[in-house]
Parts: sequence; C-alpha cells; structure tokens
Amino acid sequence: MTAASRLHFGGDYNPEQWPEETWAEDMLLMKEAGVTMVTAGIFSWAKVEPRPGEYDFGWFDRVMDHLGDAGIRVCLATMTASPPPWLSRLHPEVLPESADGSRRWPGGRQHYCPSSPVYRTYAARLVERLATRYAEHPALDTWHVGNEYGCHTRQCYCDVSAADFRRWLGERYGTVEELNDAWSTAFWSQRYDTFDEVLPPRLAPTFANPAQQLDYWRFSDDALRQCYLAEHAVLRRVTPDVPVTTNLMPQHKPVDAFAWAPHQDVMSLDYYQDPYDPMAHRVAAFSFDLMRSARDGQPWMLLEQAPSAVNWRPRNGPKKPGTMRLWSWQAVAQGADAVLYFQWRQSRGGAEKFHSAMLPHAGTDTRVFREVADLGRELASVPEIAGTRSRADAALLTDWNSWWALELDSHPSTSLDQSLINRAHHQTLFEAGVACDILPPDRDLSAYRLVVVPNLYLLTEDDARRLEAYVEGGGHLLVSFFSGIVDECDRIRPGGYPAHLRRLLGLRTEEFWPLDEGARVSVHGALNGTADLWSEVIHLEGAEAVARFTDGDLAGGPAVTRHAFGSGTAWYLGTRLDATAMRALMDQVRAAADVRPVLPGLPAHVQATVREGAGTRFLFLLNHGPGSAVVELPAPLRDRLRPDAEPAATVTLAPRGVA
Ligand code: GLA
Repeated sequence: MTAASRLHFGGDYNPEQWPEETWAEDMLLMKEAGVTMVTAGIFSWAKVEPRPGEYDFGWFDRVMDHLGDAGIRVCLATMTASPPPWLSRLHPEVLPESADGSRRWPGGRQHYCPSSPVYRTYAARLVERLATRYAEHPALDTWHVGNEYGCHTRQCYCDVSAADFRRWLGERYGTVEELNDAWSTAFWSQRYDTFDEVLPPRLAPTFANPAQQLDYWRFSDDALRQCYLAEHAVLRRVTPDVPVTTNLMPQHKPVDAFAWAPHQDVMSLDYYQDPYDPMAHRVAAFSFDLMRSARDGQPWMLLEQAPSAVNWRPRNGPKKPGTMRLWSWQAVAQGADAVLYFQWRQSRGGAEKFHSAMLPHAGTDTRVFREVADLGRELASVPEIAGTRSRADAALLTDWNSWWALELDSHPSTSLDQSLINRAHHQTLFEAGVACDILPPDRDLSAYRLVVVPNLYLLTEDDARRLEAYVEGGGHLLVSFFSGIVDECDRIRPGGYPAHLRRLLGLRTEEFWPLDEGARVSVHGALNGTADLWSEVIHLEGAEAVARFTDGDLAGGPAVTRHAFGSGTAWYLGTRLDATAMRALMDQVRAAADVRPVLPGLPAHVQATVREGAGTRFLFLLNHGPGSAVVELPAPLRDRLRPDAEPAATVTLAPRGVA
C-alpha cells in the first residue's frame, strides 16, 4: 500500500458482473464517493483464462485503465480464490475432501485442496501472466493474494493431502520413531512402522490421536500458507517493489495470523460485525488490536467490511445510520490506514445479491451511498493520520498452537473456547480504557508493564522461561487457568500443574474441577463475586490467596492468587469470574502494574485511543453507546472532524458519534 500519504477508501470491485457500459459510470460514482483504492479481480480467473492456457486480459486491461485514468489505486487480486470449472473437470483430484471422505464439488468457491500441486501450478502460471502484464501499470498499488485463505476449505483430507502430510511429518520428525514418541502412539496400539502408514485424522470410530490432530492443524495452516507463498514468490520476482498482502479473517482458527505476518508487507483484515450484537465493537476491538500488533504496530488495512447488511447470517440486520461510520473510525482508531468494503456495486445475481454494497441496487439516492460518500470525504480530510502509530502498556498473549490444542476433544471440559476466553480478558482492559497489544508468547515483553495470559494450554519451556524472566525483571503477569499444561506434542508435564509455571506462580494445582453446565460457585476475598466453568485444587507454594472459593466442592481453597517473584508479581486466576469480579481483579492488577487508561474518567461506552506520528498526536473518541456522552479532556483540543469548531475541553458525542 502506498505508504502514509492518506487513509485509503474504497472496496472490492467486480466489474465482470456488469456490462462494460457501466464501468465509466462506476468511475464517476467512485470519485463522487471519495474512492481512492479498489481491490479488483478477486473472482476473475474464469473470465481471464476461459480455457486452460488461453488468456483474455483485454477486458481487464480496460478496467485497469479506467481506474488509472480516474486516479484510483488498485489492490490487484491474483484471481486464484475460485478456480474455473475447467480445472476440476480436467483434474478432479484438485477438489477437497472432508474428514469423512466426502468430496467438495465446484459451484461455490475455494473448491481446491490446499496441498494440490496441480492447483498451485495453474495458480502460479496465472499469477506470472498477471504480474508480468500489470507490473508497469500506473494504477497498480498492492497485490492481494488469494482471498480469505481457509474460509471455506479449512482442511482437506484427500489422498493428495495425506501424501503431503507424510512429507511434512518427515521434515518435522525425521524418523518414524520420533513421530511415535511425539504422538504418544504407545497408547491404543497406534505405533507406526513406517511413514507410509500415517494418514490425516480422518473420521475414526472414536477420538483420533490428539497429537496427530494438533499436527494436522499445523500442517493445514502451513499448506494454505504454501499456496500464498507460491504466488508471493512469483510476485516478488516480477514486481519486487510492489507490496503484498492477503486478507485474513478475524480470529480465524485455521490461519495463524502471527505465522503469516512476516510474509506480508502490510496486514489486512476483513471484518463483519453483527449489527444485532450490542457487544460487536468490543469483539472487533480484539481483532483490530491483533492486526496492529502482528507487525509491530505497523498500520494495517481494513480490506473488507459491509456498508450495511451481509447475506450470510440467519438474520441480516442493516447497520443503523452512523454505525458504519463509527465502526470504520474504530478500525482507524486502532491502527488501520485503509477502510474498504465488500463491495462497490451490489450484485444483481449470485449468492451475494442481498449483501449490501457501497452502491446499492437502489442507486445513489440512498442512505447507504450518502453515508459512504460522507465517510469518503471525512477520511480524505485527515490524511495526516496515515502512518501514525500507537503504543500500549499492556499486552495480551495468545497462540494458535495452543488454541488448536486447547479445543481438541477428550479434555476435562469441552466448554473451553479460546476466542471467548481471550475476549473475556481483553474486554476488561477495553472497558477500563487501556490500550492493549496482542502478541504471541515468543515476543519480547520488556516494554510492557502488564502481560495477560488468558489461556496458554500449550506452552513451550522457552516461552515459560520468557514469562519468568519478564516477571523477575519487574513485570506484572496475570495467568488464567489451564495454562502451561502440555508441551508442543500435547503431552502432560508430570509433577503437578502447571509444571513450567509453578515456580513463577508459587503454587501447584493437584486436580482440575470443571464445573457442570450452569453451576456457579462464590468467590470472596480482595474481590467478591461468582464463578463458573472451571475450578481447581490449588496448593500455595509461596503465593498468597487473593480470593477463595466460599462454597461448592472446593470451599476454602484458593481461587485467585498473587506471588511476588523477583522484582515483579505473578497473579493466577483458577476459575472464570463473572464480569464484575473480573473487572475488580483487573483493576487490582492494573493498579499494581500502574497501567492507566488512555483518558481517565471516560463515560461508559466511549472508546478512546491515541495514534502519534512526527510531532502530531491524534486522540480518537468513539461513542458506542445508545445515548450521548460528554467527555472531559485535560486540555482544549481541536476536533479535526469539525474544522470550524473552536478547540474545546468538553466534547459531547452524539450516539454513535466520533471526534
Ligand atoms: C468475504 C469475502 C467476500 C464476500 C464477503 C461477504 O469477506 O472475501 O468475497 O464474500 O465475505 O461478506
């Protein structure tokens, strides 16, 4: 993306769905709406390569020229997200299979096996043509590889994938003895004599080997990434100076955003809040923080959002007036330098004809088009926000390897959901108005005053030592239950849980005591409330109890603990607290760590963030509440979105208002 000159604005452009006469009008209306960038060609493969090896780029040349003439930058898709029907007719083995052996047929999209060398070869051939053809085109800005990898085909279990999995395992383990050891195959007579006997974890009569399942998550993520990297390699060679991205999905289990981040020049995210969810902005806040953190605070792109309703929920609520603006600004407030939509012109046919678009079926005399155009103008008025960054005193750690392992079957409780656990912790910081980065556990933590570990079930010994060193050096750490339980191969470390964290936390967990569905227990001490989902038998070995269970099977036992370690403090939460008690705990931890909100005394539902650049500091205020809100600032500030207003120390935000 052209760096830091403005906040880009636009959307997916699918001109092949419309007669060519429409394109000139598209350009005029795009200018009217303030569009500065489109992402084009995402589903154009079948039209540019109608028959194998026969290319028809003429129409797409004209699209690019139109855009170039209109001064609109192109985030050019590699067109490989939906293979044309001829590919699977010619090579049926490219079609993916699910765990029960059933095939996924063409007719939708993303109907390819990620391991398929045939798919990768045909895709790379197209990308070579495309990159060569448009390398010098003045409108080309950024490459958009594939589209939402793993959205529909997350994992494939076909024979091609099985062979690729065996190759991958060979590289990972070297010998079959190592594999047997890593997978604990002494259990249930699962010992392999050669790699040739190994299969993906296809549907089995009962629980498939957990380490095999965990490796299949890793392998499948890697297979998707190899598709991306194969195209990336072509683009790098042909257009070394053009940045490359791919649009990730939020909290998307099949795709490890931290592992993909180093291979992208700019992170980009598609985000579709549910307008019927009153918590939608808090859920989004987690993903936005993660996008910003994944490449060390570098501005990212909101590559897709809906102007109003989507078409794929059971009930597709429209965004109320002002909501789209508010949520777009939220992305910018949390580090985005681009706001794009799916899609420019609403489709006439196909599965997404009821999905909203910037230019609705009803045309320009519509609320949606007016709101879009207003936002386009507004974003254009503050170009100097682009390139600015933010910093946080708190970090939350999460890890895809641990997520995959946590949600395997045959655990003390199958109600543990990584996204929900992460969000519950993130939300308490969000509500307290604290800026937070989201990182994998192997990052340098020394810049943070507070580190929160919602749940790292799988924790490597190195990462556990890193946490120890962090606290020893004066850091404040909050670790929640069922963390540090298994190694990379989902094997328990004996000697009392959580083995590698016992010294740091100053305790030993003897037995897990998950709570039955709907059951609650009381917790009292320095914080009071109720808890559900989880409890455990904790023995203090240096830590002190901050709060104890006061009823239920574990009455009298510690529920929350604190341990002075080196120059810092490690807190442990052995249950799931209700939201109020969780806030009380986080307030105590924050006070000890001296982690302050971005702005003190913020009214409820108002989000405040800061982005700073050379000599400029932007404070963003967003009112997510249903009523108006008054924010007192420490000093008068000028509202850049109301250029005629005098600087003021009191800001009144209308419902869904932004300053
Ligand atoms: C995803 C896809 C788009 C479109 C939208 C609809 O984000 O990338 O092509 O299908 O969903 O919400």
